[in-house]
Amino acid sequence: MHYGGDYNPEQWPEETWHEDVQRMREANVTMVSLGIFAWSRIQPAEGEFDFGWLDRVLDLLHENGIAVDLATATASPPPWATTAYPDMLPQDENLSTYWPGSRQHYAPSSPTYQRLASELVRALAERYGAHPAVVMWHVNNEYGCHLHYDYSDNAAAAFRDWLRTKYQTIDALNAAWGTNFWSQRYTDFAEVVPPRKAPYSHNPAGMLDFRRFTSDTLLGLYLMEKRILRDAGITAPITTNFMGAFLPADYWRWAAEMDVISDDNYPDPNDPDAHLGSAFSRDLMRSLKPDVPWILMEQSSNALNWRPTNAPKAPGQMAALSMQAVARGADGVLFFQWRQSRSGSEKFHSAMLPHAGVRTRTWREIVGLGAELAALPELPAGQRDASVALVFDWENWWALENPDHPVVLDYPALVQRWHAALTRRSVQVDLVRPTDDLSGYRVVLAPQLYLLTAAAASNLTAFVEGGGSLLVGAFSDVVDENDGFRPGGFLTQLGPLLGIWLEDFGALVPVEGPGSGGPGQSAAVVEFEGGSATGRLLAEEIHLDGATALGSFAGGRLDGRAAFTVNGRGTGRAYYLATIPDADGCGAIADVVLSAAGVEPVLPGLPADVEAIRRGSVLTVINHGRDSATLDLPAGTDLLTGEPSGRRTLPPFDYAVVRVD
Ligand code: GAL
Repeated sequence: MHYGGDYNPEQWPEETWHEDVQRMREANVTMVSLGIFAWSRIQPAEGEFDFGWLDRVLDLLHENGIAVDLATATASPPPWATTAYPDMLPQDENLSTYWPGSRQHYAPSSPTYQRLASELVRALAERYGAHPAVVMWHVNNEYGCHLHYDYSDNAAAAFRDWLRTKYQTIDALNAAWGTNFWSQRYTDFAEVVPPRKAPYSHNPAGMLDFRRFTSDTLLGLYLMEKRILRDAGITAPITTNFMGAFLPADYWRWAAEMDVISDDNYPDPNDPDAHLGSAFSRDLMRSLKPDVPWILMEQSSNALNWRPTNAPKAPGQMAALSMQAVARGADGVLFFQWRQSRSGSEKFHSAMLPHAGVRTRTWREIVGLGAELAALPELPAGQRDASVALVFDWENWWALENPDHPVVLDYPALVQRWHAALTRRSVQVDLVRPTDDLSGYRVVLAPQLYLLTAAAASNLTAFVEGGGSLLVGAFSDVVDENDGFRPGGFLTQLGPLLGIWLEDFGALVPVEGPGSGGPGQSAAVVEFEGGSATGRLLAEEIHLDGATALGSFAGGRLDGRAAFTVNGRGTGRAYYLATIPDADGCGAIADVVLSAAGVEPVLPGLPADVEAIRRGSVLTVINHGRDSATLDLPAGTDLLTGEPSGRRTLPPFDYAVVRVD
């Protein structure tokens, strides 16, 4: 179990380093991420490296038994580099330049940036590849975090190359993008530009390809560095820190290239449902590489600096969220950062060692958590504990982000709504791609799978034919991989499986925003045996074509029409929901599907804000609520106290970790 944080000794005099390591030992720190933003200190000029200070820090950490996740430091180029080579600066959609003075001011496609970054990584690999302190390599930092998309000439040239490789001929691109629309037909790849500022909507297939290109380009930078490290003979695991469900990078594709998944997560302590959002991110990280425990690479010990209001974490909340990560598959809990900065933009950001020193609650909680994690035995890994899978697909997200749809949909928020409903029911869930092996699951939920490939459709069909229960949500199976309609209407691939066909999408008036005060219908109530669900955004006109209606719209323009259907196929069931349910509605619909499939909660009857998670034989129960909760835990051993488990009262933010007999 790794415990530690980003360590930025370049911000401090050497005397402070000695106090740092002493305090790290006091807090049971096992590993630090070193030098993430130290490029200008490591390389003061082109061709010149200053390793003396870094040698001393690495040796000091090693002498004190603290391992290092060594950064390649390529996330913030030094001023000498951008002064000498302004062509490496990125540009926005108006071609206005992102200037230096902050961080991440490099164009990912810039050959100059790639050359300079490579030189730095090669030098670090040669010098520290065999250093005994270095147990992991931390490539760059949060690729794409601030600069989601680059539209510079470097990006344009690289985008054209990417398109040439993908399509081979300009005719193939024209066909895929449907460029006969609005006179967009190209005669040469050289005519294609990134989706820079234009009078009106860009070609949606072109937008989709630009997002694919951007994800591939950022991944290409990671692979460039990884190759250099491996070529230098480095065998230690290599990672780069993810940011949960992050639009610009398709982490499913990235995951295959990571030795270990690491993630940065900053829930808002002011949000009473913060633990539900973080539960989703943690499940996503575990699901990206299920056999290798992931690492929570960054979180805050207390308040942040970058929200309009930066509330402190409540007493115990930091530890509760940390244990949630461990429960959901992490083998490491790290923070940004070790010691609170005295200058720079992040001086108000909390740290493990606060500016106010060791007399603080933050420090006490950091020391307390370090001791608890140090006492934990090795936890099971690679177990498949979930019988429910929730589809989360980046390509689909990108396509849904295109404008000009019946209604604006926030895809990750809608998927998370289902995840939250399951979490509140203590039902364990994995995130999956629609093309993944689904055979281990009883239930698969696929909300808003707008872009559906033929491979994904046949995989979902095979899942149902093999006995699984699939719930497909409204606005699914609408377009192909080029964001174009398939011939023959909608639900062209899943319609026969679902036993329905779709006539129209039926956008509803948004609940908030312009129009909400007007006469339009904003909610679509679905009534079914034993319950009801309120739908929003869409109330689709569907027709039964073999399916049974479990529920119908009650009131509104579709009064009495089928809204929630089921169709048997093989030994499985294919459900369809013709609207987008609110939070309670997700729960009510999930109850129907889960109980028919015999899915059990991890622990029944828990209060809504108490979560229960299995990690193989280990059960973790965490009270995120504001009231104490008294629970009967299954027989086993409490791994934090060594006592037999049993009836326990958990005050707010307390938890129990039990190895179940
Ligand atoms: C992350 C970043 C860290 C630090 C942190 C502050 O995005 O990787 O360097 O800035 O946010 O919350």
